[in-house]
Amino acid sequence: MDNNYIDQACKQFRTLLEQQLERSARMDHAAKDFSAQKQVVIGLIDGDGIGPIIMREAKRVLEALLKEEITAGAIVLKPIEGLTIENRLALGQSVPEDVLAAIKTCDVLLKGPTTTPKGGTMESANVTLRRELDLYANVRPVSVPELGIDWIFFRENTEGEYVLGSRGIEVPDTLAMDFKVTTVPGTRRIARTAFEYAKNNGKTKVAIVTKANIMKKTDGLFSALCHEVAAEYPDIQAEDWYIDIMAANLVNPDIRGRFQVFVLPNLYGDIITDEAAQIQGGVGTAGSANTGDRYAMFEAIHGSAPRLIEEGLGDYANPSSIFKATELLLRHIARGAAADKLAKALEICGQTEKKVVVTGDRTVATCAAYGDYVLETLAGL
Ligand code: IPM
Ligand code: MG
Repeated sequence: MDNNYIDQACKQFRTLLEQQLERSARMDHAAKDFSAQKQVVIGLIDGDGIGPIIMREAKRVLEALLKEEITAGAIVLKPIEGLTIENRLALGQSVPEDVLAAIKTCDVLLKGPTTTPKGGTMESANVTLRRELDLYANVRPVSVPELGIDWIFFRENTEGEYVLGSRGIEVPDTLAMDFKVTTVPGTRRIARTAFEYAKNNGKTKVAIVTKANIMKKTDGLFSALCHEVAAEYPDIQAEDWYIDIMAANLVNPDIRGRFQVFVLPNLYGDIITDEAAQIQGGVGTAGSANTGDRYAMFEAIHGSAPRLIEEGLGDYANPSSIFKATELLLRHIARGAAADKLAKALEICGQTEKKVVVTGDRTVATCAAYGDYVLETLAGL
């Protein structure tokens, strides 16, 4: 074995550790009060693949719901160009510098899916944005009233396997190592977000989901800190679960109805929220809020669907997920009435009437036709 690899890896590990310690030391807390702000700038990022197709519909919905406020200048819809896989690959940057600068001039973002290249060293644009904007809470609601399901997931969004996922170590033809990071302030803030949500929304239970029996250091710390925070909420019951049995429980009709709020590390949250969304009708139906203290970004929970594009079926992409993200965005910027209206329209279109159906492989209408249906329904409310 060439000792060079070991020396290089040790050097790299030292840098990673120093950077993570530094990140952990500068986590701040100062949530924004949108109701006190004169103007809110909403950045609209199309993304790539099916991104621009579903975003077009979301834009129409936002324009309809916020018409007066846009005219009065209280809301600004600001298109952000350039976050496409073609541009990112050409520049060799996961989020090009000028795009990031434009994004940082906004308060909140509505973002279409972006392609994440497999392998190589290019980081996922999602991961870069979540890190650069410090969007530490990935909040994903899933609800299926007829099955008694009303879940909300608080996925830690800036740490775990993701934060150094593009900076692992490799000894060619021999081994590869990646790193997982859990910090004390990073865990405390997601735990606090989940328990505060539970307290303010009449929830009585929070499930802390880890694999602390195997990932003893990182998940062990995550679980211990969640319990520490839980101790400040005596009316809320904190339960420990392992991710594997939780994955089974979500499809167990005898048990799943008792879960309410979940808090969990990044990768488990990624996987299990796709499972939960599938129970709701598919990943195309679930929206996601990425929130931090300064910025927030709202998006579908899924990627850019290259298969649909390759098969020429992009126009049939389901916009439900980005509509749900739009509802979450409106609620976040204190536009509760508009959010409620959109929630009502989505319920009518997606669950009650179902006059126009777009659901993955059972697709019968285009994305635009579904957009028309939601807009007509909104106009009737
Ligand atoms: C998600 C997505 C992203 C993730 C991908 C697109 C990088 O799956 O938001 O859940 O892995 O976080
Ligand atoms: Mg995912």
